[in-house]
Amino acid sequence: MSVHSGILSGADLREEINRLRKERNAVILAHYYQRPELQDIADFVGDSLELSRKAQATDADVIAFCGVKFMADTAKILSPEKIVVLPDLDAGCSLEDSCPPDKFKAFRDAHPDHIALTYINCSTEVKALSDIIVTSSSAETILAGLPKDQKIIFGPDKHLGGYLARKTGRDMLLWPGVCIVHEAFSETELVKLKAQYPGTPVAAHPECPAHIIEHADYVGSTSGILNYAKTMPGDTLIVATEPHIIHQMELAMPDKTFIGAPGADGNCNCNICPYMALNTMEKLYVALRDLEPRIEIEEGLRLAAKKSLDRMLDMASGTVGQGDLGARRG
Ligand code: 13P
Ligand code: SF4
Repeated sequence: MSVHSGILSGADLREEINRLRKERNAVILAHYYQRPELQDIADFVGDSLELSRKAQATDADVIAFCGVKFMADTAKILSPEKIVVLPDLDAGCSLEDSCPPDKFKAFRDAHPDHIALTYINCSTEVKALSDIIVTSSSAETILAGLPKDQKIIFGPDKHLGGYLARKTGRDMLLWPGVCIVHEAFSETELVKLKAQYPGTPVAAHPECPAHIIEHADYVGSTSGILNYAKTMPGDTLIVATEPHIIHQMELAMPDKTFIGAPGADGNCNCNICPYMALNTMEKLYVALRDLEPRIEIEEGLRLAAKKSLDRMLDMASGTVGQGDLGARRG
């Protein structure tokens, strides 16, 4: 996408974004995987569950969503009367791409006695075909609320599904999708890193494959990992998730050391999400200025998708987003 913000940069760009935020009565929501400068200018930074709740509760007229498309879609599903803009409409997700609605429908139809428990990292169409949506921070609570003999299909993340199946003892049918970012961590390099920092705990996101999770002292959502960093023993942590979350860790805990888990080339920075990285300050400025690119969802589809999201929000109502910063920034 090409954007034209004129000659704006640095402080001027921040000033203009702040001016437009006021003028538009906009709220800027950002995921922890966003570039540091976007996290810094956001009103709220959070995990997928917290951002959904903020989108639902805000009284702003405009939601500028610094995250990926399924997150901005979720904001629009929950707050249809608001204008929702995403700085770059191409900010997708490999999990969403892995799960085309027609194939997902065929999978569902082949298992009529199963309910579809579906990770929020999917399209609006797949949400509409699902019974209950989960995020990584709400999945265990939601599973615990379902009868033990309930048959379940879980999509689209086979690693999150596999982790939940192992942890809860549930036998779930898994859709074969993966997150390309978490899939890229290298067990060999992680073991080398652990040997270099003996006794240092590892925190991993459940989108990681089982061979990475096996080495983790803590497994949880981005907010859960952030909270673990605050309470963990010692002052150094190996972080097996998208490395931009380390920005929040360094802000909250400047005296601690955070090391990104490496990919196959031993580089700690090779696990940056290419979709999240499409959003920039310049594109955020243009989105607030032009109120484009805008998320639009056909009303029948929105209402169908909202049912499964509402079930999640109801069933996870006791789940506290532990990393919710809740403070105005910018
Ligand atoms: P959470 O922030 O809910 O842990 O999700 C991580 C993720 O991959 C978002 O795309
Ligand atoms: Fe999708 Fe993975 Fe990027 Fe999250 S980190 S948006 S799951 S590709």
